[in-house]
Amino acid sequence: MRKKIVAGNWKCNTTVKEGVELAKSVNELVLTRGAKDVVVVLGTPFTHLISVVDAVDANRVNIASQNCAAVAKGAYTGEVSAAMIKSTGATYVIIGHSERREYYHENSEILNKKLALTLEQGLTPIYCCGEALAIREAGTQNEFVKQQLDETIFLLPTEQLLKLVIAYEPIWAIGTGVTASTQQAQDMLAFIRGLIAAKYNAEVAKEISILYGGSCSPANANDLFSQPDIDGGLIGGASLKSEDFLAIINAY
Ligand code: 13P
Repeated sequence: MRKKIVAGNWKCNTTVKEGVELAKSVNELVLTRGAKDVVVVLGTPFTHLISVVDAVDANRVNIASQNCAAVAKGAYTGEVSAAMIKSTGATYVIIGHSERREYYHENSEILNKKLALTLEQGLTPIYCCGEALAIREAGTQNEFVKQQLDETIFLLPTEQLLKLVIAYEPIWAIGTGVTASTQQAQDMLAFIRGLIAAKYNAEVAKEISILYGGSCSPANANDLFSQPDIDGGLIGGASLKSEDFLAIINAY
């Protein structure tokens, strides 16, 4: 049975002190009022990882980094490797977020290196895909997302693909307040699951959690999560408020 997952992506927000307070607050709410069958993940800045890992109950709240280096180690000033992330106690890594693809020019070749290094460390990649508005308006979003997957995760062998979580985040819905309609999100996630079934097999497709991300909020999470192919969410803005994040966790 694939997992239901609600993952927060704090992006470039909070100081360490604020982040630890937020993590403690989420942890407390999840322990006392959180849906038991939902895997909770907090994607924090690198600087926060060790402190946030310490601040939460590892059996209930998982910690993710939002990126990792495309190299294992060496003279790469400013980079943070998958092994370093692992050594903090974090267990997930967000890879290929559209903001990294767009602002830091991360292409499929770079993402494949990150995927390999992350998997090598036994960390779980949350692999992001999704189209820009112009592509959605042209109606070619399926072809676009298929190409993103063909060039990256679909190059992995079955046993590695099964270790991934996939997050579909249409760029036009990120931070805009414009959520994809429940039908648009379900259609794309079903399309992705169909691609996995065709490329690997139906059993593999059934096992992989696929999340929706983009202006997900307490107001729309229930509708989104009621869809058969939507296994949870990758949450930006609403993950910065512990009560909102809890409401999304409990939207199932
Ligand atoms: P918002 O929820 O703020 O739209 O961000 C979504 C996102 O990019 C999560 O990775």
